[in-house]
Amino acid sequence: MNVVLLGPPGAGKGTQATRLAGRRGWAHLASGDILRAEVKAGSELGRKAQGFMNAGALVPDDLILSMMAEHVSRPAAANGFVLDGFPRTPAQAHGLDARLTAVNKRIDCVVHMVVPEASLVRRLSGRWYCPRDNRVYHETSSPPTRAGVCDACGGPLAQRPDDRPEVITQRLKTYQELTTPLIGYYRDRNLLREVNGDAAQDAVTAAIESACGTGA
Ligand code: AP5
Repeated sequence: MNVVLLGPPGAGKGTQATRLAGRRGWAHLASGDILRAEVKAGSELGRKAQGFMNAGALVPDDLILSMMAEHVSRPAAANGFVLDGFPRTPAQAHGLDARLTAVNKRIDCVVHMVVPEASLVRRLSGRWYCPRDNRVYHETSSPPTRAGVCDACGGPLAQRPDDRPEVITQRLKTYQELTTPLIGYYRDRNLLREVNGDAAQDAVTAAIESACGTGA
């Protein structure tokens, strides 16, 4: 099954995509993680993307589309994938559909994760992550065992540069302006399922699995 998680910054897309991919053996394709790896590697794509990311703006569609088209076609995605942070504009959604049709695949379920803005801001401003393995924590809702240290690899945790208050505000605005049209795009194609993302992580996972018909 191929699933899209759609929702604003801090909705819990990465958290839930990690869980679904782990349980189902799907590939977790997170456009933000892939871009951050490109920035870290100092690649040409990373250099082009960094300014947009740090300003809370979207990276241009053509760069994102060529990057993600390659990932959905990889053998690792053959058993299914969960898309996290992509598509994010109608042009990206059209481009994704065209690419999937060309490789005889399709999107089966799009989950719109609904979370009130006050919770989003709380989640983003308290988020910590491990730059080595991308594990995500929250200082109150899912803290690491030792403050500032990754439970899995023991490495130091960091905060994302785009989780500064002024960038959070811009990211939420960008989402409202450029990404919310996708709700109608996928509703028209009868793929959209709405899930309350403002609940405990286990409850959100169960709701997504039920919405997409993947529950045990
Ligand atoms: P990206 O990395 O995709 O960021 P985002 O969409 O803004 O989403 P986040 O990663 O901030 O949040 P999330 O929904 O994954 O939440 P998480 O699970 O971490 O993109 C970053 C930038 O890259 C963009 O701004 C843009 O510049 C660029 N980019 C990426 N994709 C692009 C594209 N397609 N086109 C153009 N540009 C693109 O959870 C957040 C926190 O909440 C964590 O601390 C977590 O522990 C906590 N939490 C999670 N679930 C719960 C829960 N149920 N209850 C309480 N706390 C919870």
